[in-house]
Amino acid sequence: MSFYITTPIYYVNAEPHLGHAYTTIAADILARHMRQRGEDVFFLTGTDEHGEPVAQAAEREGVSPRELADRNSVKFRDLVKRVNATNDFFIRTSDPEHERGVQEVVQKIHDNGFVYEGTYEGYYCPRCADFKTDAELVDGNKCPIHLIVLEHEKEDNWFFKLSAFQEPLEKLYVDNPQWVTPRARYNEALSFIKGGLQDVSLSRARLRWGVPVPWDESQVIYVWIDALLNYYTALSYAREGEDLTSEYWPARHLIGKDILKFHAVIWPAMLLAAGIEVPRSIFIHGYLLMDEHKMSKSLGNVIDPFEVMDRFGTDTLRYYLFREVNFGQDGSISAAGFETRYNAELANEYGNLASRTLAMIGRYREGLVPGVGVDDALAADLAGVADHVREKLDAVDLSGALEEIWTAVRRLNRFVQDEEPWKLAKDEGEAEHLDRVLYSLAEGLRCVSVLVHPYMPDTAARLLAALGQEDVSFDGAAFGARGGGARIGKLEPLFPRIEPPAAAA
Ligand code: ME8
Ligand code: MG
Repeated sequence: MSFYITTPIYYVNAEPHLGHAYTTIAADILARHMRQRGEDVFFLTGTDEHGEPVAQAAEREGVSPRELADRNSVKFRDLVKRVNATNDFFIRTSDPEHERGVQEVVQKIHDNGFVYEGTYEGYYCPRCADFKTDAELVDGNKCPIHLIVLEHEKEDNWFFKLSAFQEPLEKLYVDNPQWVTPRARYNEALSFIKGGLQDVSLSRARLRWGVPVPWDESQVIYVWIDALLNYYTALSYAREGEDLTSEYWPARHLIGKDILKFHAVIWPAMLLAAGIEVPRSIFIHGYLLMDEHKMSKSLGNVIDPFEVMDRFGTDTLRYYLFREVNFGQDGSISAAGFETRYNAELANEYGNLASRTLAMIGRYREGLVPGVGVDDALAADLAGVADHVREKLDAVDLSGALEEIWTAVRRLNRFVQDEEPWKLAKDEGEAEHLDRVLYSLAEGLRCVSVLVHPYMPDTAARLLAALGQEDVSFDGAAFGARGGGARIGKLEPLFPRIEPPAAAA
């Protein structure tokens, strides 16, 4: 079975921040892990370029929406590269192929009888690109998220009959209890549906920056309808001359909880209306917080992911985010937290285990991993690790899987302390024992490195190369799956000491 994983497409109204890197890295970890398992993976990310959020930001900056989109889309693309994401395609909603695809699907929804002409009366937040009910507003007329005063507007536009999908959506949820996870988000979406669905605008009358409504060129398609369809249109043109839809659809979506309603309610209804299969699953993660507040461009409390990676490296960022914050929940991050985990876990636990193991094999066995059997007690403790990692990642529990791996790293460090190979090396009679200890360490290190590879691909690959074991396939992740006999190579420190920032001195 194929595995099609997506991230949200990010708005180009501002530069990327760490929150954007978060979802992209999460999706990349899953994509890399599934490739290790031999699955046929397609990984999509990209930018959301139409609508009021971008049009108004461009106006503020005195440039055209297209200029702003071009400029910022490049930055998101750079971020994807810099975090070492292995996406198969980067979609931009300004791609002409996407725009044509949107028109086709919207036309289908129209032809199937789910579109009508009406008048929208109420509030709209141009930063959220979302319609707000009176009950949602704060201080009378402000957006609860952006805290900006909203206009009460009245405009004629085209409506999507979301209300017609109340029952089909309820059935979808009840029949597929794993459709939306974690469970709290499933409950949230289902109760929203049960609370009654209002029809939503499918087009905007005053905006020009968007995809024209095919049967009414005076209006553009509402940006969320346009944006959600990226997941579907991308497959039709991501690979030159091919249509990958039948190979990869339906998708598995990874999103933040800010956009739950769009993905878990409106999106499946749109697909049902168009006669297209609904997504396979949606996983909703929480917020990265800075001092208890959601990191967001509207609050201005964002961390620049490029700066973090300049200082700590890409793999450290990839590791830290899923170690510090339980994936699925909100969690605070901080510069101090980065430093602590870097020193305590990466440099001292994993880095030291690697350098000691290689040094001892070099010193005591002239660089050749002994070809013997594994230590039984260690084998018993490490036996289930690969399976647990697989189970956790199948449930998109990225932090739980990493915790399993780290427990194994710590077990290996304890093994070194307990066995004291430097003492065994002094005693001729302990030669076989030392062989077994050294092979067990090399093999344990190999296993945890194969398992941690999706999280820290560069680090794990360097270490595996030094162990003379390049294969990262998941089949080989079991402890004892590979024999000894490999010749080890040189390894530069995986996690060198980081200099304190000049300003903090
Ligand atoms: O909503 N913590 O784009 P967007 C965790 N274009 N994740 C965060 C985060 C934080 N503090 N801040 C942002 C849009 N994110 C639409 C999406 S999809 C068809 C259209 C991540 O630029 C998280 O994935 O506001 C969130 O859902 C997304 O960025 C919102 O990005
Ligand atoms: Mg947002």
